[in-house]
Amino acid sequence: MKILSIETSCDETAISVIEAKGSFKNPQFKIVADTIISQINLHKQYGGVFPSLAKREHTKNLLPVLKTTLKKAGLLLDFKFPVCNNKKVGVIKVLEREPELANQLLNFDCKYKNPKIDVIAVTQGPGLEPALWTGLNFAKALAILWNKPFVPVNHMEGHLVASLLKSKVKSRKPKVVKFPALGLLLSGGHTELVLIKDWMKYKTIGQTRDDAVGEAYDKVARMLGLKYPGGPKVSKLAEEHKPGHPTSKSEYELPRPMLNSPDLDFSFSGLKTAVLYMVKNIPKLTPKIKREICFEFENAVVDVLLKKTIKAIEKNNIKTLIIGGGVSANKRIRKTFKKLEKEIDGLTVLIPEAKHSTDNAVMIGVAGYFRHLDGKALDPNKTGRIKADGNMRL
Ligand code: KG4
Ligand code: ZN
Repeated sequence: MKILSIETSCDETAISVIEAKGSFKNPQFKIVADTIISQINLHKQYGGVFPSLAKREHTKNLLPVLKTTLKKAGLLLDFKFPVCNNKKVGVIKVLEREPELANQLLNFDCKYKNPKIDVIAVTQGPGLEPALWTGLNFAKALAILWNKPFVPVNHMEGHLVASLLKSKVKSRKPKVVKFPALGLLLSGGHTELVLIKDWMKYKTIGQTRDDAVGEAYDKVARMLGLKYPGGPKVSKLAEEHKPGHPTSKSEYELPRPMLNSPDLDFSFSGLKTAVLYMVKNIPKLTPKIKREICFEFENAVVDVLLKKTIKAIEKNNIKTLIIGGGVSANKRIRKTFKKLEKEIDGLTVLIPEAKHSTDNAVMIGVAGYFRHLDGKALDPNKTGRIKADGNMRL
């Protein structure tokens, strides 16, 4: 079946079409078309994402992104068909708070035929609520207009299933997940260890008590004068650092908060503050010092993530470790965790391709397929009770 998926939880407007088949045990996915518009350049000047600004941009971008995606998928058929009044009323109602979008959509649809897609999936939460609402309402309107089943999706479930995707046709072999599995979610808003007894059966067994790991990366970047989003920049500087002898101590040593705590929780706020004090006491931050601080910061992050993850694996007899979220684009983290396959007997480690680690719509399509298999698709005219949820839990 073909799934159209929409993601607007933060600062990316993304729409994709995937082809999905198979059961939970043997799912297969093919990316048919995928479009993403990033608002980074806009938010960069403010040092972070502004929800109302993000919403405004999503409103502007959604329809052009939809059109481009349908066109790439060969689903945009160029002939007119009239929209009946009933549907018009439905669309205007769900887009009550987005009159501009309703207007664009109704004009757009008059020109283009109902595309051959089977399901519409959309991110319901967590994320920035104003941004989430825009995508959610837009998806509801499309479902009414085209009379398609509607599937609301948890963004974090999207990150969990992102590693099931392979974009290269030659390696379309399905990835096998053996249970119990462990999810390690590393994003701008979350740092969580999730016990997965089976698909759809999640239990958070560890989480950050303060900042998320991506947030810590972004804040450290700001302290070092690097622009938002700082994660990739910190990671690049860390890569460029040439460490001395492995046994020699760094002049810029940082703490590993909660490394030895008996639970599976994390804390990154203290680490971030330690960088802040360190930076304050350095008279001149040279590029070399910045590289060394980034390297040491990444060391601290990796040490804590790794120790708690191994602990969770051993405690729960985990067969598959599934990593996801923007920070899993980090090369050092990818390499470190992939190595666990060799170190822990019988363990498979799944990590998304870097482009599917950060926010995208394809992962929402995959999670949407699972939710559809699980019988969670809604009638397009019965989506009224679905509300954007900025704090949605797995
Ligand atoms: O999953 P994501 O795209 O959005 C959220 O759902 O939050 O994650 C974004 C986070 C940002 O904090 C960004 O700095 C971080 O992921 N990030 C990275 C890297 N690429 C993105 N952090 C470290 N190394 C990277 N290469
Ligand atoms: Zn995300």
